[in-house]
Amino acid sequence: MKTLLVTGGCGFIGSNFIRLERELDAELKIINVDKLTYAGNLENLADLKEDGYYLFAKGDIGDAAFIANLIAEHSPDAVVNFAAESHVDRSILDSGPFVQTNIVGTQVLLDACRKAEISRYLQVSTDEVYGSLGAEGLFTEETPLAPNSPYSSSKAAADLLVRSYFHTFDFPAIITRCSNNYGPYQFPEKLIPLFVSNLLADKKIPVYGKGENVRDWIHVLDHCRGIDAALRHGQVGEVYNFGGNCELQNIELTKLLLQALDKPESMIEHVTDRPGHDLRYAIDCRKAKQELDWEPQVDFETGLAETIKWYQENSGWVERVRSGEYRDYYQQQYGDRLSES
Ligand code: NAD
Ligand code: DAU
Repeated sequence: MKTLLVTGGCGFIGSNFIRLERELDAELKIINVDKLTYAGNLENLADLKEDGYYLFAKGDIGDAAFIANLIAEHSPDAVVNFAAESHVDRSILDSGPFVQTNIVGTQVLLDACRKAEISRYLQVSTDEVYGSLGAEGLFTEETPLAPNSPYSSSKAAADLLVRSYFHTFDFPAIITRCSNNYGPYQFPEKLIPLFVSNLLADKKIPVYGKGENVRDWIHVLDHCRGIDAALRHGQVGEVYNFGGNCELQNIELTKLLLQALDKPESMIEHVTDRPGHDLRYAIDCRKAKQELDWEPQVDFETGLAETIKWYQENSGWVERVRSGEYRDYYQQQYGDRLSES
């Protein structure tokens, strides 16, 4: 692989992925296409110089002419699609941008890649497309899709389009589905960075309902290594699940964060639950182990401590991403529910 087109590379996972690819292969040419929504931040890749091997192009994956021109100009060998609206709570407030980017954007990108005869396409998807588990069981790649939120429905729709392009057009696509990521550069609207940055500012932390919902936490670098393995060694037409083998109830995770930051449990505020809140996600990643020789490497305790340290040391980054549009969202999402927001 000589040239890789990455979409959504200025977001949390995309920026970690680009940095990993740069470390793995200094001669890989990486084109990063990002619309720079509220979640896209050029600062996330400020350490990468734009040179012959890295290029940023501001644009929308749903803009057919822009994408076609970019592909014609750079002839990428492979495309990895991270670009998405990614936050469940925002999809409940307004599903429009989710349908537009996650579904229509993916369709436009697929068409452009198909016309240009791209030889490998990887769709970055989520375990949320499988819906919710009860107390027992794990999601496998065979679990039927049963998404419950506008976010997960839009991701499932995109997965179905990708699947159909493989079956109908022999389009060389792979889908990966991962559990909840944590690590540096995650926008402070998701649980871990929101709670850590609130606690660092001595602000209360909003636990939805009783906090009994379970998520399977994986370090972002383990997810990125999985995407890299699937891109280089995966079979087209296949789906690969990635998870961290680290199930925690939200309230257990919240208490770990309080302990790590030496804050009292009185900082917790139980707020109205998320509508349609999925109870539990947990991943069976045996297929990725068997076929890609991949398994998560970062131990949760170490990864969480390093992540907290990153947020402590990057308070300026947090301040900057929390300014502007984010303030309006925070007020709309938590304004009436949190006593000290
Ligand atoms: P993010 O919200 O941090 O980043 C999304 C990026 O996409 C931003 O840089 C944004 O500017 C860009 N973008 C949005 N709309 C665009 C458009 N129309 N055209 C071009 N760029 C656009 O998201 P993330 O957490 O890094 O997630 C990346 C991908 O991974 C998403 O597809 C998400 O569904 C998937 N995923 C996320 C997780 C997780 O735990 N965060 C887990 C599994 C899968
Ligand atoms: O499972 C993969 C998915 O994980 C990704 O596809 C999504 O892009 C990503 O956002 C994430 O979705 P979740 O909804 O699980 O993540 P979030 O961090 O929003 O919430 C994690 C859990 O914490 C969930 O049960 C809701 C709860 N929560 C979240 C927030 C933001 C709270 O209790 N309070 C909060 O303020």
